[in-house]
Amino acid sequence: MMKILVIHGPNLQLLGEREVSVYGKVTLKQINAALEKEAKTLGVALAIEQSNHEGAIVDRVGNARESFDAILINPAAYTHTSVAIRDALAACGLPAVEVHLSHIYRREDFRQHSMTAPACVAQVTGFGKDSYLLGLRGLVAYASQMKPKKKTSAVRKRKCTSKRSANF
Ligand code: DQA
Repeated sequence: MMKILVIHGPNLQLLGEREVSVYGKVTLKQINAALEKEAKTLGVALAIEQSNHEGAIVDRVGNARESFDAILINPAAYTHTSVAIRDALAACGLPAVEVHLSHIYRREDFRQHSMTAPACVAQVTGFGKDSYLLGLRGLVAYASQMKPKKKTSAVRKRKCTSKRSANF
């Protein structure tokens, strides 16, 4: 089964009470429940995480290849500032889709540039909670068409060992 890492960036744990006129009343819990429902329909598994820390997100993206096939990310404020997250997305070798609840290109000037989007296969912005659901659907369609990942040397090694023990 395809496994997708969902990352919510800084301050998104406050959704529902944070700048309601911009982000609406939807909570992170409701977004995650909707994502899990959509994932079930699509036949994929999700691991959902939220972090306020740039380095933690960099670590998570950097290690994602070991356990996941694709990444759905709302980098939140780091969208506009983080070369480190952009580089991690570019380096991790997994397809990623960037999503935003608000329409970042209709907001303040400083939000109208995404550092991270060029390292993603697509961006969905402005549909509120549905940005996540549309992003997930697009990501699953995109990742399904990719060639299977190469196995890591650890997996190859394990396979080799068990084959040898089966033979001798
Ligand atoms: C956001 C947009 C960002 O500019 C902002 O910093 C956020 C949320 C969005 O989902 O609309 O925290 O990523």
